[in-house]
Amino acid sequence: MKCRKCGGKAAINMRQHKLSLCREHYLEWLPEQTQRFIEKYRMFSPQARLLVAVSGGKDSLGLWDVLSRLGYQADGLYIGLGIDGGLAYSSESQRLAERFAAGRGLRLTVVDVAALEGATIPEAAARTQRGKDKPCSVCGLTKRHVMNRAALDGGYDVLVTGHNLDDEAAVLLGNTLTWATGYRARQGPVLEATHPGLVRKAKPFCRFYERETAAYALLRGIEYIYDECPHAVGAKSIYYKEVLNQMEAERPGLKLSFYLSFLEAKERGLIAAQSDPAAAGLHPCTTCGQPTSAPGQCAYCRTWERVRSQAVRTLEGGQPV
Ligand code: AMP
Ligand code: FES
Ligand code: ZN
Ligand code: ZN
Repeated sequence: MKCRKCGGKAAINMRQHKLSLCREHYLEWLPEQTQRFIEKYRMFSPQARLLVAVSGGKDSLGLWDVLSRLGYQADGLYIGLGIDGGLAYSSESQRLAERFAAGRGLRLTVVDVAALEGATIPEAAARTQRGKDKPCSVCGLTKRHVMNRAALDGGYDVLVTGHNLDDEAAVLLGNTLTWATGYRARQGPVLEATHPGLVRKAKPFCRFYERETAAYALLRGIEYIYDECPHAVGAKSIYYKEVLNQMEAERPGLKLSFYLSFLEAKERGLIAAQSDPAAAGLHPCTTCGQPTSAPGQCAYCRTWERVRSQAVRTLEGGQPV
C-alpha cells in the first residue's frame, strides 16, 4: 500500500474513503478534516473558548491535541470517577491526562467526584437503587452535570467531547431500534444550548472511525489509556458497535453512510425536533439551579442526596439498601 499523496509507505488504509496515507500525511489529513467538520457543522469560531472533556483515552486526548494544533483556545476538564479496583482505571487515566497537559503547557481542571459529593461512582451506585447492578447510569448522569457546571462556571462557549463515529452510530442504532424519536432528534455533531443554564456541546470527531482516531493517537505518539472502563463490559453500546463492525467488514463505509444519511434526513426536517423530550418544560432545579424537566430537584441532586442519606444510615448501623 502506498500513500496517495507522496507514494511513500502507507501507515493506514481507509477502505471506506478508498484512501491510504503515510504517517506524515495522515497526521496532516486528520486535523484538516477536523477543521472541515468544525466549519461544516458550524461548531465554533476560531475565537471561541473551548472546554475539552478528556477521559485519558485516545479520542479525547487526540482531539485536544488537534484543537490546540489548529490554534483553538482549548482547556481540558478531567472528571475523577474513582473507578479503580484492580485495574486502577481512573487513577491511570487521570495520570495520563495530567501528563498530556503538562507536556504541552495546557490548562487542565480536575474535578474529583468523591471530593465534590463524598463518594466515588462505584460507592454511589452500590448505595442507590439506580445503579444497583452497574454504575454506568449514575456515572453518565454525574459526568453530564459536572461537565455542564464546569463549562458554565468557567465561562466557556462550548463543551467539546471526543465522541467518534463508532460511538455515534451505536447510539443512533440503539435509538432507532427502540424508536426513541426524541433522542434521535437531539443527536448530532452539535447540541445547541436550549436554555441559558445549558452549555452548547460539540463533537468534532463524530465522523472519524474509531480506528482512525486510534491511528492518530498512536502515530502522534500520544500516551493514552488502552483499557475501556471495566463496567463497560456487556453494555448494549458495545454490542451495537460489534454488530456495526460486522456489517462494516462486509460493506466498507456502511457505518459512515448510516450516520450521514441520518444527519441529512435531520437537515431536511424529516426527523421532528419538536418531539425532543429534554427541551420541553425546563425549569431550574430547586437545589443546584441547573435546568431540569423533573418537578423540583434534578436527577443529579436527587441521586446524590439519596447516596448521602444511605451513608448516614450505614453509619447509624442500618443496612444500606
Ligand atoms: P464515554 O462516555 O466514556 O464514551 O466518553 C465520551 C466522551 O466523554 C469522551 O470522549 C470524553 O470527551 C468525555 N469523557 C468521558 N469520561 C470522562 C472523564 N472521566 N472526564 C472528562 N471527560 C470524560
Ligand atoms: Fe462511567 Fe464506566 S461507569 S465510565
Ligand atoms: Zn505521504
Ligand atoms: Zn440539581
